[in-house]
Amino acid sequence: MNTGATSDPGFDALTAKIARDRGFACGSYKPTCLRRRIAVRMRARGVHRYADYAALLDRDRDEYEKLIDTLTINVTRLYRNPEAWLAVERQVWPALFTRKERELRAWSAGCSSGEEPYTLAISALRAAEAAGTPAAASRVRITATDIDLRSLEAARAGAFAEPAFADVPAGVRERWFEPGWPARARDAARALVRVERRDLLEEAPPPGPWHLIVCRNVIIYFDRESQEALFHRFRDALAPGGFLVLGKVETLLGDSRALFEPVNSRERIFRRPPAAAA
Ligand SMILES: C[S@@+](CC[C@H](N)C(=O)[O-])C[C@H]1O[C@@H](n2cnc3c(N)ncnc32)[C@H](O)[C@@H]1O
Repeated sequence: MNTGATSDPGFDALTAKIARDRGFACGSYKPTCLRRRIAVRMRARGVHRYADYAALLDRDRDEYEKLIDTLTINVTRLYRNPEAWLAVERQVWPALFTRKERELRAWSAGCSSGEEPYTLAISALRAAEAAGTPAAASRVRITATDIDLRSLEAARAGAFAEPAFADVPAGVRERWFEPGWPARARDAARALVRVERRDLLEEAPPPGPWHLIVCRNVIIYFDRESQEALFHRFRDALAPGGFLVLGKVETLLGDSRALFEPVNSRERIFRRPPAAAA
């Protein structure tokens, strides 16, 4: 097991405490990343020693929430890296729509406040319309998971403020969201998305098989060992021929590269090889 121990006992004691109190598996995150995020909060509170900050967390619940918010890094947007989503519309959904299963199951792993699963839903709706088979999107079921309860609350609301729209393709705002701010996703998209809490490091994937797993800008914070273990779990959770979409700066590592075939390397789209024909 990865204890995540570093050469700094004060830091190790603090991260062990956070893991114990809040079930946040600090040992599986990159220590440099954790250090940087914790330093942000310590600076904000004018605290210089890890032990003093640990004591502060015991006294101040609100600070503990702020720290967890800072550690989980919830930055997200609708159609974040639009080229990747346009590739999903062109290359992933049309392939999935040809599958025989009644339901097409997609998992947004590390969904933050919901922008990603709603992008997934809208990309399916757009791809189905583009193919001239709008009803195909009604086969899609999206499960969105995250470790962070506050983010999940926002994801459940499915309504987004103006900055979340910076990257959306022309026409998406009007077609798939109600007027006004925050912009509430229309029922066609809402019907496809359900939200639940799940820790990617500590829990098994939600029961599959999945036809599409989108896990973007999450594993980048995990250490290498946890990333590789996760790629193996994704592969097992995917149906043969199912797709995996990673973030722009993420990629498969080590022997997990042999588990998938590239579909669009530039946009980090991979697939579990289809079952060999009998
Ligand atoms: C930077 S956001 C990425 C959101 C979205 N996937 C995107 O690309 O826009 C990272 C998300 O990963 C979540 N996360 C971090 N550690 C996690 C874990 N162990 N299990 C599940 N989610 C986790 C955070 O709570 C946060 O919402």
